[in-house]
This record gives sequence, structure tokens and C-alpha cells, in this order.
Amino acid sequence: MTPFETAPPAPAPAQYADNPRRHSKKWQECPPGGIPLDLADMDFPTDPAVTDTVRRRLRHPLGYPPHYTTNGTAQTICDYYAAHHGLTLAPADVWLTSSCVAAAYLLFDQLLCPGDEVLYFSPSYHFIPDAIAAAGGRPVGVPLRPDGTLDQSVAARLTKRTRAFHLCNPHNPTGYAFTCEELRQLARLAREHDLSIISNELHSRLILEGDHTPIAALGEDARARTITLSGPTKSHNLSGLGVAFALTPAEGPLKDAIRRIGPRMTVPKGVQQAALTAAYAEDSPWLRGTRAYLRGNRDTMVRILRDLAPTVRVRPPRATYFLWLDLRRLRLREDAAGLIERRTGVRLLSGREFGSDGRHWARMTFATDRGLLEEAVHRIASGAL
Ligand SMILES: Cc1ncc(COP(=O)(O)O)c(C=O)c1O
Repeated sequence: MTPFETAPPAPAPAQYADNPRRHSKKWQECPPGGIPLDLADMDFPTDPAVTDTVRRRLRHPLGYPPHYTTNGTAQTICDYYAAHHGLTLAPADVWLTSSCVAAAYLLFDQLLCPGDEVLYFSPSYHFIPDAIAAAGGRPVGVPLRPDGTLDQSVAARLTKRTRAFHLCNPHNPTGYAFTCEELRQLARLAREHDLSIISNELHSRLILEGDHTPIAALGEDARARTITLSGPTKSHNLSGLGVAFALTPAEGPLKDAIRRIGPRMTVPKGVQQAALTAAYAEDSPWLRGTRAYLRGNRDTMVRILRDLAPTVRVRPPRATYFLWLDLRRLRLREDAAGLIERRTGVRLLSGREFGSDGRHWARMTFATDRGLLEEAVHRIASGAL
């Protein structure tokens, strides 16, 4: 059976052809015999459309390239958003950065005064509240419901000091992709209370069913108050290359804020720009194949866990390559991910990384070879529970 059962022609997502431990943090840090499913990295070779373009770019001089707003890089992003999301952007609304996390820190620094509140949705990637707090702001976590959906109490958390929402859509760690209705509700609240929206959409091209809606595409008002952070690193397995972007409104205080950040965005240069352009030219056969393979991985894992480990509650995510395991029924006193690794060698990311009460939860990355994943899930089912 080939790994891409239902996909268009695409290369097999075998683990790195040579020794994976040499190149990968998660493999390097995992003890022999262990299975690392903790970090947000794929075990697949990168999209050949990207690697071929990078190889071609390396044949040319590596001095400063022309600015990305004039050399076609930003235009490729604009074309992508126009074609896929009906969002009209100009190259001057695209700002390259080497890291979404770094950009979030810089943005909050510009946007917040001490004591300003920013609502974010928990469980959350820990850099989000950290970035808000580092800017002197007050991160206010709004718990998502256990199924990942928006809690209706969002409006009740707004105060006179609330300045912004931070949205992670699709959401890390739950893999939940917010519905248009939920996004409209947030955009409405932002309009009524004059809030900015920072929307991290880094996993938006890993939607496994349906479509992604950028909140900025909901209308003129949403566009005018949103900065979108995204890039190819998750969808195309390029985390080690360091290339991402921010999309801003055409004018206004958010654009002024990003102008002030200026060179601190550490702009990715020629090689990264080549990779970005290749990744956003189209949804390549590799990307479509990878999504199909991830869907298969997700369904396989959920089936095995439901059959063999019914105490573990799981919801099949609509996006990302994360499965958010609810381990509360195990009633453990210790951290569940720690115990699972000790007993089975399977490395998950502890839910504590996503909130202080997360020890009964764990995130599992399923962007790996299906056989390896099946072994991991069988080990968890038989060894830990
Ligand atoms: C939601 C989210 N944002 C940001 C990052 C990291 O992005 P970067 O490497 O561009 O800082 C990750 C990595 O997993 C992520 O999941």
C-alpha cells in the first residue's frame, strides 16, 4: 500500500532519507527506541516544488535581493490571497519576517500600553500570552469549549482596558478551524468595541476538510483592524528556513505600527523568498497529497484510540496535524505526557505547554509515517492506560 492512497501523484512521505537525527531537533532529542510526536514538525521531505526552486536560486548570487515588494515575492502572496480568499492586497500590505512568534512580540510591543488587555483563546500556544505579557499587557485567556468551539462568554471578558483579540486559526493545539459564523461573531465584537485583531493563521493551508477563512477577508471593517500572521513553514515543512509574513490593512494605526517595527522584522532574503514564492504559487500536488495523507493518519489514529483506548477522548481535528488528547479520565496525579513517555517511549507535548492546568492533556503531532504512528498509538493503548 502506498502512503498516498487517495492523493494526486506525490512523493512518498518517508522519513528523512538519511539519518533523521542529524537534522531534526525532535529526533535528535528523543532517546533511542522512542517515537517523537511532540514538536510541530513533519517527518516528510519538503515539497519538491520548493526545494527545486531553492536549488535554482542557489545558482545565482546571494547578495541583497531587490526588495520583496518589487521582485514578485509579495505579489505572489497577493495573488494567492485574491485567488483563494477573495482578499485584495497590495504588495505594500505584505511584510516579510523570519518568525511569526518574533513578529507577535514586536507587534504587541507597539500596540500595547502597560495594563492593556488582550483576549486570547486557551488552551494556547504559550508564546501568545508570553508575547502579550512581555509588552506589559495583560493576557486574558478565554477558555474554548472542550470541542474547540468559541465559548459564548467572550463578550463578558471585555473590559475598558481590552485592546485586541489574539486569534490562532486554525488553533494550536486543538486543530480546530473556526467557522465563518464564529469569526463573524469575533469581528462584530471587535467592531463594537474598537479592538484590533492579531490573527495567527500559520496552519491555514493544513485544512483537512472544507476551507480556511482569513478573518481579514470578512469585510472592510475586519480587514482594517486585522494583522494576519502566516507563512509556509507548517504547511511545507520549512520551519528550519525561517520565513513568514504579516498582512496589514492598507493604511491606519496597524500599518503605522508595523512601519515602526521596520528592520526589527529581520526580513528573510533571497533563498527564503524563493521558497516562499514557490510555496504560494499554487497548492502543489505535494501539498494536496500531504493533506490527504494527514487525513488518513488522523482517521487511523482516532479509530485505533477509540477501539483500544476509550478512556482517551479525542476529537478529529478539521485542520493541522495535531491531535489534542483529553486524558482526564485517567485521573493521574502526575503529568500525563510524562507518564506516557516513561511507559511507552512515545513523546507527546504536555498540555502544560498550553496552559497551567494542562497536565491531563497532551498534543500529538501526526505528520509522520503511518506505520510509525500506528505503532505509537498501539504502544499508548497497551502500555499507558
Ligand atoms: C500557531 C503557531 N505560531 C507560530 C509558530 C512558530 O512560528 P515561527 O517559527 O514562524 O516563529 C508555531 C509553531 O509551531 C505555531 O504553531
